[in-house]
Amino acid sequence: MSNVYEINHPLIQHKISLMRDKDTGTKDFRELLEEISMLMAYEVTRDLPLREVEVETPICKCLTKVLTGKKLGIVPILRAGLGMVDGVMKLVPAAKVGHIGLYRDPETLKPVEYYCKLPPDVQERELIVVDPMLATGGSSIAAVNSLKERGCTSIKLMCLIGAPEGIQAMQEAHPDVDIYIAAIDEKLNEHGYIVPGLGDAGDRIFGTK
Ligand code: PRP
Ligand code: URA
Repeated sequence: MSNVYEINHPLIQHKISLMRDKDTGTKDFRELLEEISMLMAYEVTRDLPLREVEVETPICKCLTKVLTGKKLGIVPILRAGLGMVDGVMKLVPAAKVGHIGLYRDPETLKPVEYYCKLPPDVQERELIVVDPMLATGGSSIAAVNSLKERGCTSIKLMCLIGAPEGIQAMQEAHPDVDIYIAAIDEKLNEHGYIVPGLGDAGDRIFGTK
């Protein structure tokens, strides 16, 4: 079974509370999501491998460490995942970005894929799939299915808020994909929305409602 890492740093909790508030407008919502994504990326990248190199400081030569191993890729699930890309890129500016477009059919709650564009060497990269909401889990499961069908083997999922149902579904579908999440909420409502959640993340990021 995959690991679930709840990243509940006080700064993140504070910023999520502001995002939950229905009176928080689009500009602040977007900025908060970017800030939280950067803070989360710090934890998601904690186990990146290092190698020793020699560097000459103004004082003397020393052995010191730099990143090594697989290159990173960020894969936002459109639309709402786009709101997390810039925050992660602030910490790992050399990462390549792939996009997977999925929308959730409002009747069936099943994800429908409408777009997929990935870096050509995506199979060789360590991927971080980003989406603020893990509700039924259908969208994240489908996005990871798409990546695996294209040969990707090293995948993590980073979400802002999850429902227990979605976390469990994701763990069962993809036991090799670790989940990094900032808040685990109570449940889903009858429309598949996370309770208490923050409403429709895509609409709040882009001002479409
Ligand atoms: C939202 C959200 C996730 C999905 C989560 O996207 O950004 O992708 O729902 O729900 P699930 O876990 O039940 O699949 P939505 O389908 O509303 O599309 P949008 O981002 O384009 O608004
Ligand atoms: N998608 C959202 O944007 N919010 C939810 O609560 C569930 C799915």
